[in-house]
Amino acid sequence: IDRYAVAGNPVAHSQSPAIHAQFAAQTGQVLTYERLLCPLDGFADSIRAFAASGGRGCNVTVPFKFEAHALATRLSERAKLAGAVNTLRFDAVCHQVDDIRRPPPEELKKARGGPSLSCEGWFGDNTDGAGLVRDIEVNAQRPLAGRRVLLLGAGGASAGALGSLIAARPASICIANRSVDKAETLIATHQAYALEHGVTLSATRLDDCGEGYDFLINATSASLGGAGVPVAASVLAPGALALDMMYGPAAAPFLNWAREHGAEPRDGLGMLVEQAGEAFALWRGVRPDTAAVLNAMRVKLS
Ligand code: ATR
Repeated sequence: IDRYAVAGNPVAHSQSPAIHAQFAAQTGQVLTYERLLCPLDGFADSIRAFAASGGRGCNVTVPFKFEAHALATRLSERAKLAGAVNTLRFDAVCHQVDDIRRPPPEELKKARGGPSLSCEGWFGDNTDGAGLVRDIEVNAQRPLAGRRVLLLGAGGASAGALGSLIAARPASICIANRSVDKAETLIATHQAYALEHGVTLSATRLDDCGEGYDFLINATSASLGGAGVPVAASVLAPGALALDMMYGPAAAPFLNWAREHGAEPRDGLGMLVEQAGEAFALWRGVRPDTAAVLNAMRVKLS
């Protein structure tokens, strides 16, 4: 039986097994999906062992998305842009010439235990941004094209989302972060892509964002540390969509704040289900009915 997993540390809280079990049942795919707790210094070993024992692919979560990017032998364009991988597919050795091939550095070869066959076809993708955009545009029915977006945070979560946000062709995306240099670095890696799509990128401090954004997307981890919403309510245009990539209790202060200031609040559960749907489609070649699973997950978690 084909095995899949979510690899991270911690992973006990992950809803991915529940989501993928529903996708599998829906589409009649026979597979298992488990949690793979990897030691902080043992991600590559854990993944290699999993692939060797029938693993066909895995999702990757905190803190291993960058390591997964380094381990993949081929990368999707969006994973390259993000510099991070949330979905690995263990392919048979593959010689497609149109694929992006990167000869693995010597130390990675060593980490993988030599030029083992199962590692030669580790395809790395990042479905986080596509999941976010699909949740905004399809589930929340808010087209991004031509709109103004304020993205809070310049860490891994923002990096994973920015490429897909650009591809949705908003007029502009302003990235606000405590440390502006990190926002500027993110812009530098995405500037050419933004130009191609006619999107203006800018970087700013959290207390100097300007006002009237149609979309506010919180990709900071501020709420995990108990901090409040890090921007003024004037950033919200009337009726703006205010989305926090978190869900559950961690998202509540941001969502309450958004509601109080006339914005439409949205948590990160839809993004979670949609990024999973993208991964499932990549692995199995069938697209699950994510809307049905999102409804079921809302009930389960309420
Ligand atoms: P993740 O993978 O969740 O993005 P990360 O890479 O550690 O995690 O990034 C965390 C983000 O949340 C960063 O943008 C961080 O801002 P800095 O780059 O200035 O550190 C932001 N963040 C964390 N705590 C914050 C707080 N209390 N207020 C504002 N931003 C905060």
